[in-house]
Amino acid sequence: MKNKAIAQFGSFGRPAGWLVLGTAGQLGREWCRQLEELGADFRGFTRHELDITSSVQLQKVMDELRPDIVVNCAAYTNVDQAELEAATAENINANAVRELAVLCADKKMRLIHYSTDYVFPGLLSHRTRFPDGYPESFPPDPVNEYGRSKWLGELGVQEAGGSHLIVRVSWLCGRQGNNFIRTMLRLADQMDHLRVVDDQFGCPTFTDSVVANSLVLIEEGVEGTFHLSSRGETSWFEFARTIFKLTGRPVTVDPIPTSEFQTRARRPAWSRLDIKRLSNVPGTRILPWRQNLEEFLKSLT
Ligand SMILES: NC(=O)c1ccc[n+]([C@@H]2O[C@H](COP(=O)([O-])OP(=O)(O)OC[C@H]3O[C@@H](n4cnc5c(N)ncnc54)[C@H](OP(=O)(O)O)[C@@H]3O)[C@@H](O)[C@H]2O)c1
Repeated sequence: MKNKAIAQFGSFGRPAGWLVLGTAGQLGREWCRQLEELGADFRGFTRHELDITSSVQLQKVMDELRPDIVVNCAAYTNVDQAELEAATAENINANAVRELAVLCADKKMRLIHYSTDYVFPGLLSHRTRFPDGYPESFPPDPVNEYGRSKWLGELGVQEAGGSHLIVRVSWLCGRQGNNFIRTMLRLADQMDHLRVVDDQFGCPTFTDSVVANSLVLIEEGVEGTFHLSSRGETSWFEFARTIFKLTGRPVTVDPIPTSEFQTRARRPAWSRLDIKRLSNVPGTRILPWRQNLEEFLKSLT
């Protein structure tokens, strides 16, 4: 049976009801997988097929396809490299997104855009103040260039004034692409001993849940910014240990402080997102992170 959002937006006798951008990435692939499974009328583009920094290409594709919904999964996501390429990150995550949002607003297309927990300052003191996570209303104040570029992108979407959803996710994991789980499983094939930071806290988000819950938000016709992750909280150390336990990998994990794992970009120490706003939307379904992880690991085998 077709999902209601698909039935609502997937046809109109047009070439495409849905346009998905950045389809070679973790989230873009999952969007295509679910839209295909639901029988939606959609077109997806990788960066190679459509570079979102080219307003000419964007305009052309949008004029040709006239989608009802534009899902933007394209982003510059290399957090450390963004410190060296701040202008490139800003061009993709902010300038191109602003132009895309203006085009969507002009053409009355609904824009679904993704952002990140890294827009927040991530102070450990905020963990006590907001034990369930940062609420959507908390003022962003990113600690690195990637977070800054994503926050500017959010402002671009809001200021364009069109119909939109901004979904902020944290610690994103998909079946393909780069993510913490896949890195840990790769390292487990090469090493029997790992050191992982235990003083950065947050919560993973799984791409299948992002797409399924985004579809519900679209179907419910809600607007604005929503936080989405699994339920609960963990540290990278605990997350790593759980991955190895559930997959039966004989890897010893030692906890280390962030000060012993230097990265070019600063990381927030605490970046949990409060998911109450999204959970209150009828039809959304959010599982505890361990349960999501178990299902995710089963799907890899
Ligand atoms: N990954 C995380 O942990 C995480 C956490 C929080 C939020 N997010 C957000 O969630 C969203 C999806 O992330 P993801 O993990 O799926 O990212 P991803 O796997 O890095 O995919 C992003 C895709 O965007 C493409 N892209 C980059 N520049 C582009 C351009 N100029 N035009 C068109 N496409 C372009 C990339 O192409 P190439 O393959 O050619 O590079 C890549 O395929 C992003 O908005 C990201 O900021 C991610």
